Amino acid sequence: MNIAWLTDLHLNFVGRAEVERLCNAIWMAESDAVLVTGDIASSANLCRYLVYLADNLQMPVYFVLGNHDYYGSSIKQVNSEVAATVKANDHLAWLSQAGVIELTPDTCLIGHEGLADGRLGNPLGSSVDLNDYHRIKELVQTTKEDRLTVQHQLGDEAAAYLDKQLNEAVKRYRNIIVALHVPPFAEACWHEGNNTDANYLPHFGCKATGDALRAVMVTHPDISMTVYCGHGHSEGYADILPNLKVITGGAKYYNPCIADIIRIGS
Ligand SMILES: [Fe+2]
Repeated sequence: MNIAWLTDLHLNFVGRAEVERLCNAIWMAESDAVLVTGDIASSANLCRYLVYLADNLQMPVYFVLGNHDYYGSSIKQVNSEVAATVKANDHLAWLSQAGVIELTPDTCLIGHEGLADGRLGNPLGSSVDLNDYHRIKELVQTTKEDRLTVQHQLGDEAAAYLDKQLNEAVKRYRNIIVALHVPPFAEACWHEGNNTDANYLPHFGCKATGDALRAVMVTHPDISMTVYCGHGHSEGYADILPNLKVITGGAKYYNPCIADIIRIGS
């Protein structure tokens, strides 16, 4: 099967013609399904775009959200709206609720937003102030320490979810595809061909999800895992373990396109 992988689309920044062009490209690639690794739009129009993609493409749309999808609202509110939207549309599958999805008898898909948990690099010394910390309600905190506490909690929740799904997945599948928005290892965070520095790493990686993935794969050398993620708009590839690799997708604002076609043998 062919899965069109899309990441960091930011559809709210483009017109209808660009969204239709993206859908045409997905059809032309003979895709059987779509995988979106977050930053689809922003809170005000996220669900409208999810429904548009699902109704136009008429194929499974597997997705996780990104930090931008929560802009202008709260994580709690957006998650509630997305859950209701998914419930009403058979083509939409939100991976952080969907559990283990079988793609072929050998291969499954799991995923979670896995937002940046502020544990990689130099969180307390970082001079970076993202829009996230002003436009996502839970991340608007009086002090950096308070914000990091919230980020740690979100990272731990993502890791706990992934750990639970992974322990089910390893019982039945030889290949596991993991979809995340934020790269789960420092080695998988890229900026213009180089690894992200300690100043930016707290905001561009999630240590908790990486620790969860690594722990399971170390104990299952016979199973292979490929992680697809985005967030930094800068592409790269990282071998973390002999059986664990991370593909980070690049993206350009105002030009939503297919990051890659994931081809899975039957
Ligand atoms: Fe992002």
